[in-house]
Amino acid sequence: MDKVDLLARLKTEIATVDLAMREDLQALVSKKQIAIDLLEVLEHGLLNGGKRIRPLLCILTARLCSTPGKEIYPLAIAFEYLHVATLLHDDVIDHADTRRGRPAVNKLFGLTAAILAGDFLHARSMFLVGTLGGRRCLDLICRSTEAMVAGEFLQLSNVHNLNQSENDYFSVINGKTALFIGSICETGGIFAGADNSKIQALRQYGANLGLAFQIQDDLLDYLGDSAKTGKEVGNDFYEGKMTLPLIHALATANKQEGNFLLDLLKGQKSDRIAKFEDAREIIRKNSGFGYAEKLAEKLVDTGIESLAIFVSGQNRETLDLLTGLARYAISREK
Ligand code: IPE
Ligand code: IPE
Ligand code: MG
Ligand code: MG
Repeated sequence: MDKVDLLARLKTEIATVDLAMREDLQALVSKKQIAIDLLEVLEHGLLNGGKRIRPLLCILTARLCSTPGKEIYPLAIAFEYLHVATLLHDDVIDHADTRRGRPAVNKLFGLTAAILAGDFLHARSMFLVGTLGGRRCLDLICRSTEAMVAGEFLQLSNVHNLNQSENDYFSVINGKTALFIGSICETGGIFAGADNSKIQALRQYGANLGLAFQIQDDLLDYLGDSAKTGKEVGNDFYEGKMTLPLIHALATANKQEGNFLLDLLKGQKSDRIAKFEDAREIIRKNSGFGYAEKLAEKLVDTGIESLAIFVSGQNRETLDLLTGLARYAISREK
């Protein structure tokens, strides 16, 4: 299944997710739980062409195990809410100007609005997961949110560590991205009443997809087209954040190239911005990008293999979509 085919088959599902978010926000306004000024910030952050990978994974993993009722949608949007909460806060942390092709909330509405809207979405998300998924799902999502914070902290403290290993990098992306995606898939299985072996298989699928997804995000930060990603290219390097391509290049570069990269990392942000293209060429020459791509492919294969316990037949279409989504995680350009 190619990308176009996958997106065409998921179009209706994405529209239903968007509608569920709109309805939820409207209900909150009607009940006077949120004022119009917060609504404006939330709509800017939420309703703007995000890929909706996380709610889709919740819906599809549940559907792989049973025929979930319509309450799967308010549960699924809880994961988009939590994801967007982290993006609102992430753009503050990363000093980002653009998100999803538009000015980031912190730029348009200010830091306070970004922080408070993120807090609101976090709270609403936990409420929905607890109400619809129950204690077990809430426990999972709370733990992966804690891990996300730990991953972000580790990434920030690693900025001063010029001697990072691949293991350091995997600790960061496991915490900040993979555990959450793994927990979403696990929640889909729990919601659908699947047995434990299936729930664990879904978790494995999601966690591997999540690692690959973040590696691709980090590749796009060097190689992407900002018109497609909707984010500034180069920001990880500008911020001194070392991701897999750079870590690999530093491990293989000759002394002169290695020192060039290290001096930039030790120096000023303005120099990293000015020399970004030279740095990118050194990473390319030392196979940093190719290496990361290969690793991400392996992780996707491992994730897809975890789905082997789901016999195809009546759930063939859902299995195809989950396989397609895993491949999309590393072929995507946005
Ligand atoms: C971006 O997530 C942040 C990461 C964890 C890599 P997405 O690439 O899913 O962003 P949207 O939701 O489509 O904007
Ligand atoms: C997004 O991480 C935040 C979390 C995964 C918690 P990044 O900073 O790597 O993602 P982008 O590139 O800004 O979307
Ligand atoms: Mg960021
Ligand atoms: Mg970040």
